[in-house]
Amino acid sequence: MRFDPVGSLKGTLRPPPDKSISHRAALFAAMADDHTHVENYLAAADTRSTLFAIEAVGAKVTAKQTAEGRQSVEIQGVGLRGAKPAQIDVGNAGTLMRIMPGWLAGQPEGIWRLDGDDSIRRRPVDRVAEPLREMGAAISASGGQFPPLDLEGAALHGISYELPVASAQVKSCLLLAGLLAEGETTIIEPLATRDHTERLLAGMGADLRRDGNAISVTSSHPLDGVDVEVPGDFSSAAFALVATLIVPGSEVVLRDVGLNGTRIGLLPILARMGVGMGAAGEGQDLAVVVEEIHDAGPEPLGALHVRHAQLSGAEVTAEDVPAAIDELPLVALLGCFAEGETVVSGAEELKAKESDRIEAVVEGLTGLGAEIEARPDGFAVQGTGGLKGGVIDARGDHRLAMLGAVAGVASREGVEVSGFEAAAVSYPGFEADLGSLA
Ligand code: S3P
Repeated sequence: MRFDPVGSLKGTLRPPPDKSISHRAALFAAMADDHTHVENYLAAADTRSTLFAIEAVGAKVTAKQTAEGRQSVEIQGVGLRGAKPAQIDVGNAGTLMRIMPGWLAGQPEGIWRLDGDDSIRRRPVDRVAEPLREMGAAISASGGQFPPLDLEGAALHGISYELPVASAQVKSCLLLAGLLAEGETTIIEPLATRDHTERLLAGMGADLRRDGNAISVTSSHPLDGVDVEVPGDFSSAAFALVATLIVPGSEVVLRDVGLNGTRIGLLPILARMGVGMGAAGEGQDLAVVVEEIHDAGPEPLGALHVRHAQLSGAEVTAEDVPAAIDELPLVALLGCFAEGETVVSGAEELKAKESDRIEAVVEGLTGLGAEIEARPDGFAVQGTGGLKGGVIDARGDHRLAMLGAVAGVASREGVEVSGFEAAAVSYPGFEADLGSLA
């Protein structure tokens, strides 16, 4: 797929529904005793895998297209301890692979195998297997580290566990196990990670408490089915946001975007890159205006009004990483268009994503003319004010495919993205949405 330079980007876009929240809504609905309605569920490869997974363990799923072209899903759960034995294909979905074992490990009986595509088989699962084993789980991974993951239901007991890496997936997995364990389970986060699990579980009646950076859960009554409305995915909106900032003359509005503070760490990074930012009415010359709507349920929602901006290089360090983890490839691209140097450090977690995103971003952008070098825990980019263009390989990674597309529309000569179809893992129709702004 080729992405040629455009004059400017103009218009309004609604990003697709949030992937993290969609996965969780479906999985937690399967754990409830009664019925859950999920409005605006993400219709993409990753979240389809989650619907298949919950059906495999016995949940009843009915998905419908609504008149507005959104997907709504009805789910009848099997209850906290009612999952049927199954072989589960997670496809490319790392979140499903790492969160679902927390539920299955505590089942009274049964065996499960979770496996996925080639990329999944290269992504570590020992980060969930080890603490689950501490809780009493019977779990084994290939070579101790990688999928397939085999589980047998067992009696679990609560633990107190300090996460060695700031990971929302590991935190979520252990909180689910905690719902089935005897006693209290406490997870301590070194840095705050996305808190969609806590928000959703609390709404479903789970006995969950936060005290500073510690989250505790006790095995409680059954989860209640709920009505969930999924907001737009900030991580998907970020591609159009960055494209607008780097293509001169652009002006774009992104509507119905989830603005959960644990997800929008790209915004303060942009502010440090010199992008004027504020709430509506706070100034005339702001390049990003954030219009927050406060009464949109457990997840804050709003709009982003974005204009082209002059960028300067900035430093991104470990504290910035969890709230911007999926946007760091875009920070590299922004760095190419900035004046001066942009350095990302403390981000070794990028190596454990759908591709090794340090190597993939550095090699990919180098091929398009960027001055970027890999570091053990990130990368350093010398801003040259633009990018020539060329060919980039998506390496089966949806965010790399979309990075290539954004680089293309902002480049001097255009970009060909090989394996662009990977974008459908989180954002089917991205090329049409981007095209609609050109
Ligand atoms: C996710 C958490 C993050 C993120 C991933 C989705 C989630 O991973 O990179 O795309 O839904 O919990 P980690 O928790 O491994 O950092």
